[in-house]
Amino acid sequence: MGTMQIRKYPDSILRQECQAVAEIMDKEIRLFEDMLTTMRSSQGIGLAAPQVGINKRIIVIDIGEGPIKIANPEIIKLGKAKESMGEGCLSVPDAIVDVSRPSEVIIKGLNEKNRPVEIKAKGLLARVILHELDHLNGKLIVDYMSFLRKIDYRLKTRNKLHM
Ligand code: NI
Repeated sequence: MGTMQIRKYPDSILRQECQAVAEIMDKEIRLFEDMLTTMRSSQGIGLAAPQVGINKRIIVIDIGEGPIKIANPEIIKLGKAKESMGEGCLSVPDAIVDVSRPSEVIIKGLNEKNRPVEIKAKGLLARVILHELDHLNGKLIVDYMSFLRKIDYRLKTRNKLHM
C-alpha cells in the first residue's frame, strides 16, 4: 500500500471523462486501498481516481462511518430538495466554494468484490458522492465559482506554480 501523488488544478487529467471499469481485478483492489491511504494522509473524506492520475470511474469515501469503495457509480435517483454548503477539494487547494446540490441521492455501482451495490445517501454523504461523481466527469469546484473568482483563483494558482 502506498500514498499516491494528488494531482492539482489545472492538471489536465482532472478534466477528462473517466473510463468505466470492466471488472474489479487485483489492480483495482490495490487502487482502492492506495486511494484510501492517500485520502487519509491528506485528511480528505473523499477521493476520485483522476485525482491520483488514473482515468477510471473509481471513488473512495470515508466520512467517519467506514470506508466506501465504488467503481462505476451511477445516479439512480436524485432528491428534489437542494442544499448549499462550502466544499473544499484536495485537487483545488486553499479554496472553499459554496455548491448547491441535491440533499439526497441513490447510486449504484460495483464494490471491491465486483458485486453490484446500491447506496442511499443524504446530507454530507450525498454531497461527497456527488462531488466525487463530478470528478469522474471532469468537473471541479472551480466550475461552481463566479467568473471573476475563477480568474482570481487561476492567477493565484499560476503564481504558486512559478515560485
Ligand atoms: Ni475533490
